Amino acid sequence: MNKRSLPTMAPDRPLVTVALALALLLGLLLMATRPPGLLTADTAQSANELPGEEEEDLPPADGEPDGQTVVDPGAVEGLEEQELAYDGPVSTSVTYPELDGAESLGEYLEHELSAGIAAFDDANPGADSYEAEWNLTAAREGLVGVRVTATETDSEGERESYATYWYDAERGQVHESAHLFDGQEALSALNTLVHEKVGGADEVSGLYPVSALYDSIGFNPDGDLVVEFDAGQVAPAGQGRVHAVVDHSDVEPLLSDLGTRVHEAATVGVDTFEVADTPDAGNDDSPGAAPGTIDPVDESVDCADTETTCVALTYDDGPGGGTPDLLDTLDEYDARATFFVTGLPVQEHPETVRCTYAEGHELANHTLTHPDLTGAGAEEAERDLSATQALVLRETGYDMDLMRPPYGATDAGVASVTEEMGLAQILWSVDTNDWRDREADKVADEALNGAEDGAIILMHDIHDTTITASEEIVRELDSRGVEMVTVTQLLGETEPGEEYEDGVPEEDSGEDADDGADSGDA
Ligand code: NI
Repeated sequence: MNKRSLPTMAPDRPLVTVALALALLLGLLLMATRPPGLLTADTAQSANELPGEEEEDLPPADGEPDGQTVVDPGAVEGLEEQELAYDGPVSTSVTYPELDGAESLGEYLEHELSAGIAAFDDANPGADSYEAEWNLTAAREGLVGVRVTATETDSEGERESYATYWYDAERGQVHESAHLFDGQEALSALNTLVHEKVGGADEVSGLYPVSALYDSIGFNPDGDLVVEFDAGQVAPAGQGRVHAVVDHSDVEPLLSDLGTRVHEAATVGVDTFEVADTPDAGNDDSPGAAPGTIDPVDESVDCADTETTCVALTYDDGPGGGTPDLLDTLDEYDARATFFVTGLPVQEHPETVRCTYAEGHELANHTLTHPDLTGAGAEEAERDLSATQALVLRETGYDMDLMRPPYGATDAGVASVTEEMGLAQILWSVDTNDWRDREADKVADEALNGAEDGAIILMHDIHDTTITASEEIVRELDSRGVEMVTVTQLLGETEPGEEYEDGVPEEDSGEDADDGADSGDA
């Protein structure tokens, strides 16, 4: 088997004509001898045919119209199934494929599956077992699709979930499903198409263009796009897998280059496939954030600019029933806020959490059960924060950077736990006392009086009076030309474990008297 890579041309050399001719000749020779797996989309069809064969003679892809193409793993050379070793309280039975020449694929799957089990375990006190198996959804033209079907069992029963990963042998990179789409706008357009297909039926709701939701996408053998959602993700768990099949002609303009190649690869049958010499194998260079990964920082706003006044509105203890109205208010004025969510409301309003994230607000950790963390031991504090961290991660794909200790109660032990978890502690500079004063006007006055540059304003989106007050607050701040930004945008990079009360620029950096205690044992 020929394992050389394609020759590179050197246009500056004097004998360029001869070199080009030689390169062309060598290229033709390579095309005739290389395995079909690494051929580019342009050359694959013609070179793949036996002499005299027509394009239509390529074998059809296998699979059902409402699912992704299925490829026989027996057609793939150098493929081996691995069993995941997981060290934790949840019982597991998880397999994944490893492929010769595609080392980064196996490593990626091992890491991804381990992280998925850990998040399931952290998010569910009743987590019992996690099983996963895989199948191939493409193996052609340098692309391999791996679809993982997981079965999670906890005290509530069993649920199936799905994720499809796309390995690109040309670059040695693994892509999430959302990478099949050409940016956030394209994923949003897909979300609208999917909503038209399934949004009206079967109690389906909570469709937002976030990567954690659009994590299992591929094509059926006819070339139409198949999107599938986990049981319980966008409809009651009893309905099982929810899926949408979208006509190829509707999604074609939305696809990334990778998506276009995947479409071609998934619609033709596979006799044999081999990954030969991935150019960047072993180099774990990442394809970058997938569409549906929302940055809490708006690059168009610069809080460091002395002409710009930035304020962080923060809302604790939610989401609540009125949070969607608050999101509408913020959206109307293109304002962003930070939501310090607690675990039980997250479980009660998962769609609101997803919507909050999709609209560019920052999600931050306010514990599972709202305990005074200074009274909890380190282990208890860690478990409580980890649960909410995992709940939000599973809902949105977002790994939160910030936390707020309930009641603002913190000490060296809390600092140590949050530092360990990579979470900065965010307090506040303006307390509206909205939990006590259930009068919208009063809450609005408190917030507006303190809304100076760098302020972090504390409110709670579980009170209707606060939702009403926020209409006044956001309208007034907007009219004053104040930028309402997320805490991460206000503060810039934060240190895990450190306490922050505001983002006032050029503040005296006098050390807290407390800092001496931070080195103490938790
Ligand atoms: Ni609270």
